[in-house]
Amino acid sequence: MKKTRVLFVCLGNICRSPIAEGIFRKRVTERGLGEVLTADSAATGPWHAGEPMDPRAAEVLRRHGAYFEHTARPITPEDFEQFDLILAADREVERDLLRLAGRHRGKVHLLTEPWGGGEITDPWEGDLAACEETYIQIEDLIDRWLERIVGEPEDDPQAGRA
Ligand code: 4NP
Repeated sequence: MKKTRVLFVCLGNICRSPIAEGIFRKRVTERGLGEVLTADSAATGPWHAGEPMDPRAAEVLRRHGAYFEHTARPITPEDFEQFDLILAADREVERDLLRLAGRHRGKVHLLTEPWGGGEITDPWEGDLAACEETYIQIEDLIDRWLERIVGEPEDDPQAGRA
């Protein structure tokens, strides 16, 4: 099976897209999908390049066992070649990605597409609770994307046995 490479993109690459990447990585590990899926994240804005993720995002990921070491980086032209699915955290990010994508426009989607569009909470100006809310929203979206990419999780064969 061909590996599907997923890139999560937000404005700063310090809150929403690292949260999405952390959740995705956690699910991939839980479901043993490391051979078929890989993820990274990037920013459309330059301001936080080289920085670790926002401390609130790190705290929420730690609470959920989804923390990973992360350094913010801007999106590059090569990303549009190398990734199969490029998921934008909001419409502004989607618009910027579509402008940069050239012949790869078809790879760009809104992260909230499985909800039929809409916005996730941007925790940048919020507190830890806002970040937790973002985590819960993105977790649901990641599960829906995974369902699209690889299907539903297989039933535990032990489930329901006496
Ligand atoms: P993110 O949050 O896009 O979820 O990483 C933001 C981080 C930084 C800024 C905006 C949003 N900023 O304007 O610096």
